[in-house]
Amino acid sequence: MSLLTGRTALVTGAGRGIGRATALALAKAGADVILLARSRDQLSSVADEVRSLGRTASTVAADLSSLKDLDRTRRALKQVEGVDIVINNAATITPMGTTTSIEMDDVLSAMILNVVAVTALNSALLPHMLQQGWGRIVNVSSGLAGRPADFVGGNTYVTTKAGLEAHTINLAAEVERTGVTANVYRPGIVDTGMQAWIREQDPQRIGEALHERFVSLHEEGNLIAPEQSADALLRHLGSEATGQVWTVASAPAGT
Ligand SMILES: NC(=O)c1ccc[n+]([C@@H]2O[C@H](COP(=O)([O-])OP(=O)(O)OC[C@H]3O[C@@H](n4cnc5c(N)ncnc54)[C@H](OP(=O)(O)O)[C@@H]3O)[C@@H](O)[C@H]2O)c1
Repeated sequence: MSLLTGRTALVTGAGRGIGRATALALAKAGADVILLARSRDQLSSVADEVRSLGRTASTVAADLSSLKDLDRTRRALKQVEGVDIVINNAATITPMGTTTSIEMDDVLSAMILNVVAVTALNSALLPHMLQQGWGRIVNVSSGLAGRPADFVGGNTYVTTKAGLEAHTINLAAEVERTGVTANVYRPGIVDTGMQAWIREQDPQRIGEALHERFVSLHEEGNLIAPEQSADALLRHLGSEATGQVWTVASAPAGT
């Protein structure tokens, strides 16, 4: 029996990519899963996969970049019997391009999805975790948060991920010694739709050097599978560590 057996986990962005792989890894470890994203068909397909592993799955279709949907989601989650683990994974890499070319509405949407939604969900789920003296909060960031100059053309993305990391480390200090941990996870360079989307962009719009770098990463086989990243996240989740920035490489060895 694992530490996660019988726990309930909410995974945002669970319809595909790292979120889907993490939801399935949690189910394999014995957790019931609540899957959140916008695409109902993808959520429903992942829910079927979770159920085939013998665990309960429910779905929440919501756009976390919309304050209205976010409020509705927070209210719905407060009615749920108890979420013990939250993996805040949903994010957008848009808008991309020079700072003079991007639309401020897109910047605002990204800030809401990548930072505000995480804060809002954590705030809604924390009371139950604190009351029971056990909870796990993982906020999925990016290695780029630690080296923002490496992602020229993605100013909003690195800004939101740096903010997300500050939120996480500060929250971990706030809830220290309560049994609730909060950690950042940098998932590595992962073969998902997000990576494919960057490769599909017009090089002139997002920057030729940046585009070439992402194409090369793919061509040279430097992307890891979502399952590999999710496994590393699950190995970290078994620890009592809090206030840390986890990476794939720093994950404890598997059994
Ligand atoms: N892939 C990488 O190399 C890489 C590297 C570093 C960090 N990351 C981080 O890892 C996380 C997952 O990335 P990924 O590569 O797996 O991305 P992905 O393949 O693009 O999947 C993103 C997930 O988030 C959901 N999502 C997007 N916008 C949403 C919204 N407005 N409301 C609710 N859900 C939304 C998507 O579903 P819908 O579109 O159906 O809503 C999807 O399920 C992100 O935080 C990303 O920043 C990824």
